[in-house]
Amino acid sequence: MHLFQGVVLTMAWFWSSSVLAFTTTNQIPTNHQWRTSRCRFSLMQQQQPPLSLSQQPSPDTIQFFDEIVMSRTACKKFRRYGGNYTRSQDNTPPTPTPSDPSVVQRAWQCLRLAQRAPSSFNTQPYKVVLVHSPEHKKALSRYALGPNQKRVLDADCTAIFLADRQVMRTLPKYMKWQLSSLPANKQPPGRKSKFMLALYISLFSSGYPLPRFLAVPLSALFRFAFSILEWFTRWFYVLPTFCNAEAWAYKQVMPVAMVYMLACTSRGLATGPMEGINAAGIRKVLKIPRRYGIPLIVATGLPYRTDEEDGYTIAKDNQLLPSVVERYPMEDVIFSNQFGNSALVGMI
Ligand SMILES: Cc1cc2nc3c(=O)[nH]c(=O)nc-3n(C[C@H](O)[C@H](O)[C@H](O)COP(=O)(O)O)c2cc1C
Repeated sequence: MHLFQGVVLTMAWFWSSSVLAFTTTNQIPTNHQWRTSRCRFSLMQQQQPPLSLSQQPSPDTIQFFDEIVMSRTACKKFRRYGGNYTRSQDNTPPTPTPSDPSVVQRAWQCLRLAQRAPSSFNTQPYKVVLVHSPEHKKALSRYALGPNQKRVLDADCTAIFLADRQVMRTLPKYMKWQLSSLPANKQPPGRKSKFMLALYISLFSSGYPLPRFLAVPLSALFRFAFSILEWFTRWFYVLPTFCNAEAWAYKQVMPVAMVYMLACTSRGLATGPMEGINAAGIRKVLKIPRRYGIPLIVATGLPYRTDEEDGYTIAKDNQLLPSVVERYPMEDVIFSNQFGNSALVGMI
């Protein structure tokens, strides 16, 4: 127990200077700030009325959601705006063409919706760059690998999902924003609560505002110390399991990308998630700071309507249906109560 307290106190001391620096300078929001944040909230409610969870969703809602999930598929070939790309040419013209403004507009809407994705402590440690101009598509395509290059050139736009590996840098802004978005009936947190929140975020995220050559070994050291402590204390004191900055940041941004892809599907857009990229090159051409990792990019546009080999099947009524890519059997993946127990029998 003493050892545990020692580690926590050391870490508290380590961060106290930076954490205290903003806990003392942050002001309680003014009336004006209160009003603006509440207005923004009500505006959002007007735009997207939340479903009341006390009511059962209608069968139509359920069916619609299921259809969206089932019809999302990774698009392998996009149609160029203007239609200057035909199968007989086979090779995508190397010069990118302007994007369809209506597709780009829908992609913006989907990104706004994607911001509703959850994140740890609501820290939202991600950014998204939507690439849609011909010059930027061209620059981006240089750092996409193999067939991904064509997808970036053909698609109307590509969303670059960025994971912040140094979330502690945004802490002053986060704290200020948390205060300004507090509901009217809630007391602003005191210095101790703010300090503890900052400590938890730093422990979970490993996102120290330090150069990587210092942050990576420091995080490894803390996690190693905690794993030893956790081994000794797990019977009477539960300690969390922490991950490194990259893993933490990546897990925050992936739900955002997933909501984006589903929102695109619901608006008739095809999406192609891609990890076959060169992150350093993309950072360079799109002026992305080094602290951001790039777990994936998502090409977005209209599918190139051909045949089954492109992932789409033309049904008898000439309707375009995405061919569903198979998954492992459910009983291999999803268990009941305990690893290995099949959930299938009698459940669905
Ligand atoms: C994180 C991630 C990275 C991916 N990277 C690529 C990629 O670089 N190139 C590609 O063609 N597809 C890529 N995909 C798409 C997968 O191949 C595709 O999702 C998978 O085969 C299942 O097919 P479906 O999405 O159509 O159901 C990626 C998907 C994910 C989730």
